[in-house]
Amino acid sequence: MILVVGGTGRLGNHIVRALRDQGRDVRALVRKGSEYFWLNDTGTNYFFGDLRDPQSLHRALRDCDTVISSAAVRVEQTDNNHKTLAQGHESLWEAAKARGVTRAMFVSCTGVGAAGDVPAFSSKRASEEALVNSGIPYTIFRPGLFSANFADLLRRADHNGSVFLPGRADARVAPVHPRDVADIIASAVASGQGANEVIELAGPDLMTVEQAWKIACEEAGVSADYWKMPPSTLKLAAVALRPLVRRWANHFQALSVNFGQDQAGDGTAAAARFGVALTPFRTAVKAAWLERHPGEDPVAREEKVVHRQFVATIYEPGTIKFDALPDGPPPRQD
Ligand SMILES: NC(=O)c1ccc[n+]([C@@H]2O[C@H](COP(=O)([O-])OP(=O)(O)OC[C@H]3O[C@@H](n4cnc5c(N)ncnc54)[C@H](OP(=O)(O)O)[C@@H]3O)[C@@H](O)[C@H]2O)c1
Repeated sequence: MILVVGGTGRLGNHIVRALRDQGRDVRALVRKGSEYFWLNDTGTNYFFGDLRDPQSLHRALRDCDTVISSAAVRVEQTDNNHKTLAQGHESLWEAAKARGVTRAMFVSCTGVGAAGDVPAFSSKRASEEALVNSGIPYTIFRPGLFSANFADLLRRADHNGSVFLPGRADARVAPVHPRDVADIIASAVASGQGANEVIELAGPDLMTVEQAWKIACEEAGVSADYWKMPPSTLKLAAVALRPLVRRWANHFQALSVNFGQDQAGDGTAAAARFGVALTPFRTAVKAAWLERHPGEDPVAREEKVVHRQFVATIYEPGTIKFDALPDGPPPRQD
């Protein structure tokens, strides 16, 4: 059994899917408020818990030989933030050790060692260190910017007519499709490769942030003004905001690092080692643009997901494939 923490996230749902495609038993640790039912079609098991609740982690890890975490917070909450996440990962590795887990994988991010005291990065560094010190055979993956981040910018531009490009527009990045990262992780699980290694991952096309933005606009057919928001401006905004709204200050700082650092190169060789052919940026960003999350589409949510989740809950969750489920009751008319 493999425990996936963060399975409802942008990357985590691909990890659950990739592992289920291999026919593996997967248990997703989900929070009570999570929209976990998007995963019903995968046949994964659910366990309700939280990184901040060590007892839930100990229970979730029963009979697991592997644990994978891609959990993160984008914008901090008072009670769920970069600090609690680092503490939560420490508890996760402790529980995994106590349960005799033989492989632990953690999704960190590129540049984690060089980002100084930016909370989003120091939290990941602490989680990495706790994993290495736990003595569990580990693999740490450090992906660079996700191609889907450009789809987020496109949505903002499409909605507002303009957008700020965070970071350095001339920073060289190789955005990676989160599905490719998930395939690499699933391949590492299957082959046992990457034990006690830190593996940097990136997409196949190295380009500047500005070039990536222009390609994203072409692929989506979006034409919008954009302003460059260099790291110095973001840093200034972060300093000004910190006393008022710490979480936004931290968020700006993380953005300026994510979009502002040069990546070392493209990720083709690292991916080939795991038998994964990387998706070109053009294809990946177009897919991310078209792939609207069902949460953003009330019709899909009402008709396709919620009722099926209801049915799946009645008939042993995790044992029925999405397509095999009977239709739920008709959509509400009100
Ligand atoms: N986006 C990028 O460009 C990028 C680049 C490099 C690396 N990364 C890293 O890749 C990883 C995955 O990113 P992502 O975009 O998939 O993140 P995401 O979509 O924000 O997903 C985060 C996941 O963590 C879960 N989570 C948050 N707090 C939790 C808690 N207290 N206990 C248990 N689970 C909790 C969330 O659950 P809920 O559904 O309940 O909220 C969600 O499943 C992160 O470590 C991120 O830093 C991202």
